[in-house]
Amino acid sequence: MIYHDAIVVGGGLAGLRAAIELNRHNIKVAIISKVHPVRSHSVAAQGGINAALGNHPRGVYDTWEKHAFDTVKGSDYLADQNAVIRMTKEAAERIYEMEHWGCPFSRTIEGKIAQRPFGGAGFPRACYASDTTGQALLHTLYQQIIKYKQEAEREEMVMYQEWLVTDLVIEDGVCVGVIAWDIVSGRLEVLQAGAVIFATGGVGRIYGCSTNALINTGMGMAVPYWAGAPLKDMEFIQFHPTTLLGKNILITEGCRGEGGFLLNNKGERFLAKYSDSVNAMEIAPRDILSRNIIREIMAGSGIDNSYVHLDLRHLGEEKIQQRLPGIRKICREFTGMDPVTDLIPIQPGQHYTMGGIDCTIECETSIKGLYAAGEAACVSVHGANRLGGNSLLDTIVFGAIAGKNAVHYLQDLKGRKCETALKDTLKRTEQRFNALCKPEGNEIPADIKVALNKVMDSKVGIFRNASALQEALYEVKALSDRYNRITLHYTGKRVNLSLAWALELKGSLDVAEAVIASALAREESRGSHFRTDFPKRDDTGWLKHTVAHFTPEGVKLDYKPVNIGPFEPKERKY
Ligand code: FUM
Repeated sequence: MIYHDAIVVGGGLAGLRAAIELNRHNIKVAIISKVHPVRSHSVAAQGGINAALGNHPRGVYDTWEKHAFDTVKGSDYLADQNAVIRMTKEAAERIYEMEHWGCPFSRTIEGKIAQRPFGGAGFPRACYASDTTGQALLHTLYQQIIKYKQEAEREEMVMYQEWLVTDLVIEDGVCVGVIAWDIVSGRLEVLQAGAVIFATGGVGRIYGCSTNALINTGMGMAVPYWAGAPLKDMEFIQFHPTTLLGKNILITEGCRGEGGFLLNNKGERFLAKYSDSVNAMEIAPRDILSRNIIREIMAGSGIDNSYVHLDLRHLGEEKIQQRLPGIRKICREFTGMDPVTDLIPIQPGQHYTMGGIDCTIECETSIKGLYAAGEAACVSVHGANRLGGNSLLDTIVFGAIAGKNAVHYLQDLKGRKCETALKDTLKRTEQRFNALCKPEGNEIPADIKVALNKVMDSKVGIFRNASALQEALYEVKALSDRYNRITLHYTGKRVNLSLAWALELKGSLDVAEAVIASALAREESRGSHFRTDFPKRDDTGWLKHTVAHFTPEGVKLDYKPVNIGPFEPKERKY
């Protein structure tokens, strides 16, 4: 058995920032990540990270209060306002910390951190590193981790990479460790810890048309969910308006922030036709733009009835090359077109999970000793619709908060003897592995995964209704049934990626069921959740968070109030 004071599960921005916070307070910490940390999905973030620095000539009057208001309005008033205020107030400090740690932000002529306009923001507020902001931030944090590891006076900082956490170990309602599968050696490892922080990212790959890395299977939310930590607001799935046609690679909002246009098949900037995007046009929030793109296509004004164009040509080669080089490269490599001279074919695609592991503003879950941060968590700062640039901010603000609170928890913690819980959980995990490897099954995991993606893409998308959601729920339950009859061609334990995919598929199915059940129950339209059968927002009945509990019989839902602060719910217009 392995022991660490604290274990951070996830090697992306939230996880690394939490680990730094723990270690700088002399806590022995281990990071467990199923991929090398710099391959975590945070690396794929492109356009920017929000903070009211006021560095842009049009942003000089920006304040954290205005950032807070934009975030709450963007969330369609479902975000907890105390959490939003905390995040927006701490934003500048976290950004300057990243700057001092060497993050290569793009610069203004005066040498300040450059900022660009992003959707739903009243001011140019997104700090950026051309169009690879996530990569710049992630490598900066990873360098800090390496530095911490090498400093002799520090407590240990250990990294287990290509280890997949399969279970939490809970004793008397307290989290005391995890079971992890070392994918390379094939061994199941038992790790005891005083505190565990989950920072495993979103669940985008329950959908097929997604900007997310394939690693975002949902397993990172499923593990705490199975152990008794509920998931909050799972019906709120963000669809990014501009993903590359057919491939769904992210085409950053930075393109529109820099002045790009969305055009229909007549070459018109069609957003002017829609009352909710008539003023903000291309920099209206994502939920509104995604819907209006689909409406335009359904009205017969899309190209080939399936997409619209993003036009960057008027920005000119110099600006595109300087501010959006990654986008130019993606377009050239995946479509053979150059945005300097060609239109980019785009369609909306799944991008982000607003919901996640239910936790407080202090990142505490309902299980003592278990914390959550980043996209895996639902604090909630994004409510029903996240603003672009707020997810990277969420990771480093709440990563640090989770780390800090775990430090306090550990300082008061008495030693526990939890051998029985550790052994029992290991036994259950082994039984799960053995069940997957039994020879008599006849279902291929990949078939179930493809079927799940199809259901989610077609029935739990941008526009939803009761009958499609009911069908989706029924079909996902049937897939879970098929999952029980899985067979694997190869059952060895070392570097068996089909075993890893099969294990994670159970997480995808259970999390998908929570998304659908939550969406079916919410009979209103708010933010990203648009019900064609209930097209209006209903603050009387539904200004509340959905809380989904796992039970062996299926999802059980209840609700909790939203924290309303200074910003009174109003109709949302841009
Ligand atoms: O469009 C983008 O660059 C994505 C940013 C975000 O999701 O915050």
